[in-house]
Amino acid sequence: MEYNFLGKSGLRVSNICLGTATFGKMESGYCGHLIFTSPTQLQEDDSHKILDRYIELGGNFIDTANMYCYGQSEEIIGKWFEKTGKRDEVVLATKARVSMGQGVNDGGLSRRHLMKACEDSLKRLQTDYIDLYQTHNWDAGTPLEETLRTLDDLIRCGKIRYVGVSNVCGWQMQKLVDLTKFMGLSPIVTLQQQYSLLCRHSEYEEFQVCKNEGVGVLPWSPLKGGLLTGKYKRDQKPQPGQGRIGITAANEKMATQAAPAWSKFDDEFYWNIRDGLEQIGKEHGKTEAQVALRWLLQKDIVPSVIIGCTSINQLEQNCTAATGWSLTKDQMDRLDELSSKEKSYPYEMTEKVNMDRQNPFYQSTPISNWM
Ligand SMILES: NC(=O)c1ccc[n+]([C@@H]2O[C@H](COP(=O)([O-])OP(=O)(O)OC[C@H]3O[C@@H](n4cnc5c(N)ncnc54)[C@H](OP(=O)(O)O)[C@@H]3O)[C@@H](O)[C@H]2O)c1
Repeated sequence: MEYNFLGKSGLRVSNICLGTATFGKMESGYCGHLIFTSPTQLQEDDSHKILDRYIELGGNFIDTANMYCYGQSEEIIGKWFEKTGKRDEVVLATKARVSMGQGVNDGGLSRRHLMKACEDSLKRLQTDYIDLYQTHNWDAGTPLEETLRTLDDLIRCGKIRYVGVSNVCGWQMQKLVDLTKFMGLSPIVTLQQQYSLLCRHSEYEEFQVCKNEGVGVLPWSPLKGGLLTGKYKRDQKPQPGQGRIGITAANEKMATQAAPAWSKFDDEFYWNIRDGLEQIGKEHGKTEAQVALRWLLQKDIVPSVIIGCTSINQLEQNCTAATGWSLTKDQMDRLDELSSKEKSYPYEMTEKVNMDRQNPFYQSTPISNWM
């Protein structure tokens, strides 16, 4: 793997981060997340094998969240630390925001809940510090000052090392960065956001803020839950035994961003991307999944891509995207083109009128790189 700085921080992480939402298994859905009941979810033994292999392959960056399988994912990682003593070899990221109980203060980003959520995560993870603590989503009910001050306090008392955010829109991202600066607090170093060839909306707003402010983008669902692998075929609806997409294909009401509905993607836009991945894969002797991950790895705002896997085979295949080969500029352009949608107002207009106003001393993002 290669090791990149985590946004504007001195911390270095492997360019493949191991996502652990597949660790643990639930009998029924939680917060609308059917994926935690998938037969491909991993029990403790298999999860530990994935962690062992990931470290062997050179990975040093693990992402979890308190809500993954309602704490099971963190517990499984905590037991692995206990068993292997490898806590200090790893950069550990987790998140809080989702309700972890029935009480009115069991979720959100209030001072009270964040302090409690952090203590609970530390216990489950069997560690006394979290490297990257991320807000899992926006909380419209808590003043931003309260959340940001609490996160800074958590750094000062040694419970966490760096602050990141996840799942925000453009104005929220800019406000987070500006308020942090205004209050003189520890900066936000990362934005964990859905990003793949099938989800590029954040390039217009959120990632522009990241480019200009030195915030690293950590893509989640880089394979859109498995849609960007070669395993689903034209005119064949995925079946429940065929992994995550098969489950939501059978019950589309339970579809989420990370477990998307097959019928929403089974169209020419999708199949053109899949054909492009297959063709470029053949040019390199790589799989569709590896090409889709490589496209993300070569985006300058991305220090690390958060992969998900349900087997050692998937892990090894996905980690092979990390190093030793590259997509050419022409191949990157082809994938950009296949996956781009028509620019809506005002992006197209703003871009056009600013084409001759490029000032490298002022803008870190050349206008030509806006999508
Ligand atoms: N911040 C957030 O709100 C948020 C949301 C979602 C995820 N995340 C993070 O991002 C991580 C990754 O997300 P994700 O799991 O949705 O990623 P993803 O890469 O889009 O999907 C991963 C799934 O695709 C299938 N797959 C992966 N590699 C494959 C391969 N080479 N060949 C065939 N199938 C393959 C597997 O599912 P099957 O075997 O079941 O088909 C795997 O579980 C999560 O673990 C979590 O850490 C964060």
